[in-house]
Amino acid sequence: MLNPAAMAASIGVYDSGVGGLSVLRALKAKLPGESFIYVADCGHAPYGDRSASFVESRARDITGFLNRRGAKALVIACNTASVVAVQRLRERYTLPIVAMEPAIKPATQVSRSRVVLVLATSNTIRSSSVARLCSTHGVHTRIILQACPGLADQVERGRFHDELTRQLLESYLRPGLDAGADTIVLGCTHYAFLIEEIAKIAGAATTIVEPSEAIASQLSRVLPASPVPVPRQVATTTFFTSGPPHELAAFLDFIREPSAQVHALPAGGG
Ligand code: DGL
Repeated sequence: MLNPAAMAASIGVYDSGVGGLSVLRALKAKLPGESFIYVADCGHAPYGDRSASFVESRARDITGFLNRRGAKALVIACNTASVVAVQRLRERYTLPIVAMEPAIKPATQVSRSRVVLVLATSNTIRSSSVARLCSTHGVHTRIILQACPGLADQVERGRFHDELTRQLLESYLRPGLDAGADTIVLGCTHYAFLIEEIAKIAGAATTIVEPSEAIASQLSRVLPASPVPVPRQVATTTFFTSGPPHELAAFLDFIREPSAQVHALPAGGG
């Protein structure tokens, strides 16, 4: 049963699907007193090869949904939606918005070989944000951009360790590793669930840059700017999905995320 009072002054978190749950974990760990509303657009995932106008319209609808429910801040826990839509969302909404982009800058700071491999969706790889990051931070470091079609689908299905996942990872990682990459940027939140398999292929000497904690720190910095800054006494997390709620509930169970409340996202973003 929905409790609007409990949902007001929550922090909205949004992804094309289950990938942003990797970010939600870090947000909850950093801000245990806060309540969250997580929206998984599973009915339309993956976003990686969708048109920019489609991704933007989903981001607009879902941000509108969270805004109408009184969210005091929004975390776009999706690189693809962030690079496509954040500018327009910030023009339209006054709530603080934390967005993501591949952590290329920190990766170039830790790479000793000066070769960095970025894994992300096709939309993120060809975005102007990534082009800007490469021209700013790619002067002394070679940045190899690798689009990973099919990988987010595997995560949506909970297939973190199956043969196809391993084959896809091998094919996406090998060229960059052979070119000397010692640092891998996870530029899609879904890939955080594949970190073990990535580490097996890349080896212990490789650094994997996963940005959830940095996003949580960024959220805690922007929260005081929110018009409703007081944390709720009883922190809750409410889930909405544009796919079948029982599928998201099963995924939450699979990753051991407490999932008391999973609801259908109203059509059109509510
Ligand atoms: N999790 C998303 C990202 O960070 C998108 C994955 C997808 O829907 O293709 O880019």
